[in-house]
Amino acid sequence: MTASANPRVPSAEVNPLFVDRWSPRSFSDQPLTDNEIASIFEGARWSPSSFNRQPWLFVYETDGPDREVFDSILMPGNQVWATQAPLIGFIFANTKTPEGRRPRTSQFDTGAAWMALALQARSMGIYTHGMAGIDNDAAYEKLGVSSEYYTVMCGFVAGRIGPREALPSDLQERESPNDRKSLSEIAHKGVMSS
Ligand SMILES: Cc1cc2nc3c(=O)[nH]c(=O)nc-3n(C[C@H](O)[C@H](O)[C@H](O)COP(=O)(O)O)c2cc1C
Repeated sequence: MTASANPRVPSAEVNPLFVDRWSPRSFSDQPLTDNEIASIFEGARWSPSSFNRQPWLFVYETDGPDREVFDSILMPGNQVWATQAPLIGFIFANTKTPEGRRPRTSQFDTGAAWMALALQARSMGIYTHGMAGIDNDAAYEKLGVSSEYYTVMCGFVAGRIGPREALPSDLQERESPNDRKSLSEIAHKGVMSS
């Protein structure tokens, strides 16, 4: 699937990056360069956050010695396809401060950083796919992240897109950009009537 085969039709003018970003399951095993990896995290680094707390934490691996540990944290349904991708990571939100406060926007801010990462990647021809289907307890234990101070949000992979035919047949059928709710369902002008 290339961007030109993207069936999505925006309902208002929008930067094509937003509709061209989608989450494939077929990834090429072509490695990402160190510069590419730095750039996608750089996109996340400049995300906005409440009080500029920058509560996001990305823990990732490529083909290094810890790769199997990272892959093992995924649920089997995600392992089927995601272990092929050249980069895997897990996203944590710092949800408790050293003083014991629990800032209300930590997860919101971390979501913004994830989207920035995804769009920066897509602007470079690199696709991403987020995964909530992970073993949450294993994410803290195996990656050495404090479950007292952090909340695991999801796993993700990044890489160049691979051929649809490389997927099991049930996943091949779903390997296409999906649609969205209408604008009127998600944006309301004025007071909502109850
Ligand atoms: C937080 C989060 C968790 C997700 N979890 C999974 C998952 O476990 N497995 C999967 O195949 N896709 C997962 N997805 C991908 C979504 O299904 C996908 O983003 C959604 O259908 C919209 O499609 P698009 O990203 O191609 O635009 C997840 C996406 C996000 C943002």
